[in-house]
Amino acid sequence: MQEQVVVIGSLNMDLVVRAPRLPRPGETLTGRSFVTVAGGKGANQAVAAARLGSQVAMIGCVGDDGYGRQLRDALLDEGIDCQGVCCVPGVNTGIASILVDEHGQNAIVIVAGGNGELLPASVERFDALLASAKVVVCQLEVPLATVEYSLRRARELGCTVILNPAPASEPLPAHWYGLIDYLIPNESEAQALSGLPVSSVAEAEAAAGVLLSAGVANVIVTLGGQGVLWVNESGVQQSAAHRVSAVDTTAAGDTFVGGFAAALARGQAPEQALRLAQAAAALSVTREGAQPSIPVLDEVKRFMAS
Ligand code: RIB
Repeated sequence: MQEQVVVIGSLNMDLVVRAPRLPRPGETLTGRSFVTVAGGKGANQAVAAARLGSQVAMIGCVGDDGYGRQLRDALLDEGIDCQGVCCVPGVNTGIASILVDEHGQNAIVIVAGGNGELLPASVERFDALLASAKVVVCQLEVPLATVEYSLRRARELGCTVILNPAPASEPLPAHWYGLIDYLIPNESEAQALSGLPVSSVAEAEAAAGVLLSAGVANVIVTLGGQGVLWVNESGVQQSAAHRVSAVDTTAAGDTFVGGFAAALARGQAPEQALRLAQAAAALSVTREGAQPSIPVLDEVKRFMAS
């Protein structure tokens, strides 16, 4: 089957506690609720691309446990090709411990589990999927050697290559930049990658300039309430954020990345793809959870028309 978008990355079970605020170190708070929700940046981006109109395949690893089976089933329910989602005996499925405060802000700690078992050879086994893809999407919740292999192979095959450098705590290897068509960091990731402070649009533009000089073709910095900044050699474009009431920002970035990939794969121009991705991400923050918050294409079209 012709895959339009192939996502290589993580699957996590999100263990989500909602509390009035995030605790200080050493403090115990009483939370309001606890739920388990399908998540993981890779899986969220795959779901977003599928709900926003693409034929999608996922390459990743889960453990041989109930969470792993639930996460794989959740992707299958979305019509996502899961032949590349491997079950590794003897490890736990990845989890994310997520605290969400009453303003919808979150703090996340991940434990890689099965995601740490996604090796370059695991991707090489599914080369036929990559060979059929228009757009390949990676993040940083799986081993860096696997991300590097995937970026390089996708580039060799002529796919459009998107890297969402999340989570990021340091600059990327210098030789990665030339392999990436669209690098999509948020503010803190742009800061970690560029080594420059990023707390304003002007600072985001300076950081994006550093990443552009490193060799990436396009940098799209997602700035939350300040919208999105797209920088390439033709110049800089800022698009304002949609005004919505945030309930939970978990997976907003993933919705943006998956929506952008889906629109590019459908042949939309990057400007249109960006608008669709922004609208989808805005809708996602009005809902709780990672994958449950991701809208479908018709909802996004109605929202854009309203
Ligand atoms: O981007 C949100 C995701 O980050 C969550 O679903 C969690 O699993 C972590 O990977």
